[in-house]
Amino acid sequence: MAYRVELVESSDLDYIVPRTFEAMGNDYEFMNVMWPRHNTPDGQRKIVSRFLAGKNAAPYTKWIKAVAVDSGEIVGFAMCTVIDKKKPPEVDVDGPPGTWADEEEKKYCQALYKSLLAPRRKAIRENDLPIMCKCDSEAKSRRASQMLTYAVINMMGVFVEHQRKGIGKLLLDWGLRLADELQALCTLEGTLIGQNLYRKGGFAVEQDIIIDAGEEYADRPKDHVLFMVRPRGGPISTEIQTSSIP
Ligand SMILES: CC(C)(COP(=O)(O)OP(=O)(O)OC[C@H]1O[C@@H](n2cnc3c(N)ncnc32)[C@H](O)[C@@H]1OP(=O)(O)O)[C@@H](O)C(=O)NCCC(=O)NCCS
Repeated sequence: MAYRVELVESSDLDYIVPRTFEAMGNDYEFMNVMWPRHNTPDGQRKIVSRFLAGKNAAPYTKWIKAVAVDSGEIVGFAMCTVIDKKKPPEVDVDGPPGTWADEEEKKYCQALYKSLLAPRRKAIRENDLPIMCKCDSEAKSRRASQMLTYAVINMMGVFVEHQRKGIGKLLLDWGLRLADELQALCTLEGTLIGQNLYRKGGFAVEQDIIIDAGEEYADRPKDHVLFMVRPRGGPISTEIQTSSIP
């Protein structure tokens, strides 16, 4: 079966959200707290609204889907953000009223988010000068005029029955091609399941993150994810046969 990558339409989100969260499962404390009740229709409706608001507010984030060429069925989803003009402010995560059961749960979510993002924020703070690595001369002169080019793979899910068919790699390669065009340093916070995929895309583990909201929440579960970094102009695999970059 052949697949291609397309940009997500807002009308796709009603389908994409439940399938993506089904792929993520219920075992990640961070996902459960950041996206409450993501395994229920009510929770999923709220997530669709939050996704739509985010999609409209952040045009620099690319929302992409993998689609089966024959049937048009959506089989996977990913988001990647390119930062090339201005560093984003380090703000707490927030959501519309009713997102969290109470203020305490929201505070807990904000603490988790801060812990998860600590290495990414440090990398953004520390990489405000161009870092030259494996750049061609045209890219070097382009880089010299830029303060920062930095790409983050935010979220990726291949729908359950379509996993292990090369779709994750197809989505990742799309993001990496964009990053390489911009000579962007690339980071992600990856699940342990995703790490082989990301290693194959040229990422290396820079830090183990045990997501920890602090002593106040010592009794809550702890997630383990990996902060992975790929240098500017890193290698890109050519194994995927079918891809189309919108
Ligand atoms: C991780 C995920 C995106 C991979 O997507 P996929 O389409 O199944 O991956 P691919 O078929 O493109 O696999 C590419 C490589 O990734 C690795 N890989 C994929 N799934 C894996 C798994 N479950 N365990 C170990 N390695 C895996 C393999 O090295 C694989 O190459 P191979 O098939 O030649 O051995 C998918 O399993 C998923 O959505 N998981 C749940 C959500 C999640 O963890 N997302 C990552 C968030 S950071």
